[in-house]
Amino acid sequence: MNELMEVNSITKVYNSGVAFTAIKDISLSVCRQDYLAIVGPSGAGKSTLLHVMGGLEPPTRGEVFFIEKNLYRMKDWELSLWRNKTVGFVFQFYHLIEELSVLENVAIAASREGRKYSFKKARELLKYLGLEDRQEVFPSQLSGGQRQRVAIARALVNDPQVLFCDEPTGNLDKESQEKIAGLFENLNKVKKKTIVLVTHNLDLAKQAKRILFIESGMLKAGS
Ligand SMILES: Nc1ncnc2c1ncn2[C@@H]1O[C@H](COP(=O)(O)OP(=O)(O)OP(=O)(O)O)[C@@H](O)[C@H]1O
Ligand SMILES: [Mg+2]
Repeated sequence: MNELMEVNSITKVYNSGVAFTAIKDISLSVCRQDYLAIVGPSGAGKSTLLHVMGGLEPPTRGEVFFIEKNLYRMKDWELSLWRNKTVGFVFQFYHLIEELSVLENVAIAASREGRKYSFKKARELLKYLGLEDRQEVFPSQLSGGQRQRVAIARALVNDPQVLFCDEPTGNLDKESQEKIAGLFENLNKVKKKTIVLVTHNLDLAKQAKRILFIESGMLKAGS
């Protein structure tokens, strides 16, 4: 069987004062080298779903399996080790560390085992992403598209099997959007990464192997 992840009937209720159900009873599966786009309006629950799938946010009900592992049955340290080794995240708002250089932002994300070679790996990735000449500058000196590419390099530093990306082309011009879309295609086809991304950008979603639509916390349609 080629299945990599299984999301089993997950519901997430946020409880900050009043209870709010952000996602309701969502089930889906992801196979190896899949490229899945999740599309839906603002507030639909896309980021919540991505965080639950990536081991960042426990669901209120339901389960998430990675191969045989039940993510939220693992101990905290096991789950963070799994996240560190297996998945890479590209967040909606980059989350780069402003006080560190581009190179340091990427290298510092390396896991303990990878730390010895992290600067070498970070340089290779920045070259791959076309940022070879921006390694020594700080995030504030970058354009939005360049920041996003640094965030992608950082997500790749531990050579993750799965890449979770939240609006990776949000706030970018057409040219940067196309560059990033091409990059994901290459990561999926050539580097054999499994990609799960959330986007409003239908051009980006269309190049994925599958599109799922989410609305008011529920899966609507998709293949
Ligand atoms: N920590 C939280 N506490 C309470 N409610 C939350 C929390 N995080 C998200 N929500 C609510 O859950 C719903 C889904 O949020 P989510 O961030 O998953 O949406 P989204 O589809 O990613 O939207 P966008 O496209 O704007 O990023 C929203 O109505 C939001 O207000
Ligand atoms: Mg979001």
